[in-house]
Amino acid sequence: MTAPLIILFAALVVWVYLAVVDEAAEVLSRRAGLPFDPKRSRRARALVLAVMAGTLALMITPKDQFEASPPVVASWTADSLWLGPDTMQLDRLDDEQEALVRYGRELIRNTAYYLGPKGTVAQLTNGMDCENCHLDAGTRPWGNNYGAVWSTYPKFRERSGSNETVVKRVTDCFERSLNGTAPDSTAHEMQAILAYLEWLGSGLERGTRPKGSGIADLAFLDRAADTTKGAAVYTAKCASCHLQDGQGILAADGRSYQYPPLWGPNSYNIGAGLYRLSRFAGYVRNNMPLGATWEAAQLTDAEAWDVAAYINSRQRPTRDLSSDWPRIAGKPVDHPFGPYADSFPEHQHKYGPFAPIAEARKKK
Ligand code: HEC
Ligand code: HEC
Repeated sequence: MTAPLIILFAALVVWVYLAVVDEAAEVLSRRAGLPFDPKRSRRARALVLAVMAGTLALMITPKDQFEASPPVVASWTADSLWLGPDTMQLDRLDDEQEALVRYGRELIRNTAYYLGPKGTVAQLTNGMDCENCHLDAGTRPWGNNYGAVWSTYPKFRERSGSNETVVKRVTDCFERSLNGTAPDSTAHEMQAILAYLEWLGSGLERGTRPKGSGIADLAFLDRAADTTKGAAVYTAKCASCHLQDGQGILAADGRSYQYPPLWGPNSYNIGAGLYRLSRFAGYVRNNMPLGATWEAAQLTDAEAWDVAAYINSRQRPTRDLSSDWPRIAGKPVDHPFGPYADSFPEHQHKYGPFAPIAEARKKK
């Protein structure tokens, strides 16, 4: 800020000097009866004025136009929804790291192209993309985003009964949601996904769960979710894309899905998060039919619970879940497989009503 001030001051001095000298020159010329050209001196002063105006303009222009912006931080404050860092910020990483993060993001968006049944790198998964469930490459508010991943893992999870690393959590989605196998933890693909998740978490303090991260929790219905009502919702609002038989539609390249399957052999298996009604209902309420958002939902909560019940009552791949939930009392209320630490039947743990189960737990 001091340099422009000095220029401004110097220009002012020059201007005053020119004005005084010109005045004197004019008076002296008149007295001596010599010709005097006032235009020449006016031009010189106008030039000095222009320099002053230019300097002033620079001083009042917002300075971030000239200065480098601050280092990578998430576009997130305590009371706003998390949207992830701007991809423009990727340029700030060193070349090698930037390439790794970009590849990780690419793998989230186009998983099947690289790792699906016709994958160009390996054939590990069912043909779905991570992004089918983690919308906008895992950055959409309440779109099952990755906002709380890097800041909260490793953490203890009841499903495995262990302290889970990010690698373990990513591997779980490969094995359950993508019904396949995960790349080895040292593989370039796994490293790239980790680099992307780490980059997404930049600026978030350890332990924070930003607002809008993951899937929203809907209020429980006061009845069981109804598969018959759900089937009607499905036909009216979902079948146009996911098809009446739930198998989705392959994209033109034949490698990935234009509309992913919701049940059947190419869908997520019974160990996946979406197989729990609360996860499914919370996801679709804020994101489906395609184009819906948490602010402009197109389903009522009841429709979301009912369609979740219908879709999760269809046939899908199984998985051996015998080592899940080693502490039986740690199972969520909507885990659809016994044994349970309470006396509510399996059917109620799958379809509800869930409130009585939750209340009974609170009393314990
Ligand atoms: C069929 C849907 C689906 C697909 C496909 C899917 N996931 Fe997930 N993922 C989920 C659900 C559901 C959760 C649990 C969300 C919850 O419980 O709130 C989850 C959770 C996660 C989490 C932990 C999030 C957290 O905040 O704890 C990570 C990390 C993750 N997935 C990574 C991936 C990756 C990487 C892929 C692709 C290789 C993938 N997922 C594919 C549905 C999916
Ligand atoms: C206009 C087309 C369209 C409609 C209608 C639609 N979806 Fe989707 N759905 C999609 C697309 C596309 C994706 C994948 C999004 C992505 O990859 O960004 C998707 C993803 C999903 C997913 C996660 C991926 C998977 O296959 O498991 C679920 C669950 C889902 N939709 C359920 C529903 C339900 C329930 C309805 C009706 C209430 C519905 N959708 C209506 C287009 C649609």
